[in-house]
Amino acid sequence: MAEIPNTPDTTQAAPPPEAKPALPELLRVKVHRVRHEAEDIKGIEFVSETGAPLPEFKAGAHIDVVVILPGKLRARRSYSLASPPGEQPFVYHIAVKYEDEGTGGSIFLHESIRLGYVVEITPPKNFFELREAEHSILIAGGVGIAPILAMCYELDAASKSFEVHYTGRTKERMGFRTQIDGFKDKAKMYVGRNPANGGIDLPAILRTVRPNTHVYVCGPHSMLEEVHALAHQFGWPDGTVHSEAFTKPEPRPGDGPVEVVVKSTGQTIQVAAKVSILDALLSAGVKTDYDCKVGTCGTCSVQVLEGTPDHRDNVLLDAERAANRMCTCVSRSQTPRLLLDL
Ligand code: FES
Repeated sequence: MAEIPNTPDTTQAAPPPEAKPALPELLRVKVHRVRHEAEDIKGIEFVSETGAPLPEFKAGAHIDVVVILPGKLRARRSYSLASPPGEQPFVYHIAVKYEDEGTGGSIFLHESIRLGYVVEITPPKNFFELREAEHSILIAGGVGIAPILAMCYELDAASKSFEVHYTGRTKERMGFRTQIDGFKDKAKMYVGRNPANGGIDLPAILRTVRPNTHVYVCGPHSMLEEVHALAHQFGWPDGTVHSEAFTKPEPRPGDGPVEVVVKSTGQTIQVAAKVSILDALLSAGVKTDYDCKVGTCGTCSVQVLEGTPDHRDNVLLDAERAANRMCTCVSRSQTPRLLLDL
């Protein structure tokens, strides 16, 4: 059986070891199926290498897959699970979009993975779980359909009320269309984001605030930001809109350096414009928790004692922002200096 080569694991290197959270033990899984899901999107299914059961997961979960980057460096890339949760034996089905301008993880998975290969993954983690609700509104853009499809399976299996809205740049770029079609009148598919041309109409979907309803969105950052902004505008209650992303938000024009002061040690750290506050803290040896590094898990959130954050995360509640907490992995500062309670 083929196996990807063993090379140095960059995920074990920087940042400093004492600041790094414990890495979960890796699981070895076998590539069970590889298929074309859509233009530039490959579906890969993993099963247990040994036949021993894989860990259970809930809708919204993701795994990190160990990939080989140029230079034979090992790294981890996160992918949501699209498989039906709770169906034994577990198959971990991911959808990988070919990113020719990425760092090489998706290229490796598109070009090097073959049936029967053994790869290493982390056990499923979930920052995007379904909440108890009378109704769920699911919104997906492009490859963001993967966790949303798992949510459809989970809600459908539990006979819970939901609706799913799915859009992509073209029909050819939209994977899992047949599966989404299977949810019949609960499912609506669109092409694009312009309602005048048959694209998804996010204001129409979110305009009416429904009681005991939660909204879930996965897709490009621009879509996540639009959904959060509309939900705020239309008065959705704090904590009812949830989103998932695996990339950082794009830098904004005018993003500049920030001076960060660590209360416990008195260190003053100059954070360059293109470096995250979290990475600057870790490089300076500051002990601080983190996980996703893209503003969706909340693990890195800290109390700001002086200064005003410029929030870029998709996880903190309005009440937490009002209390001056911030996610250091993605957020910047509106003031030249931040004093952090670390
Ligand atoms: S590490 Fe997950 S939100 Fe910052």
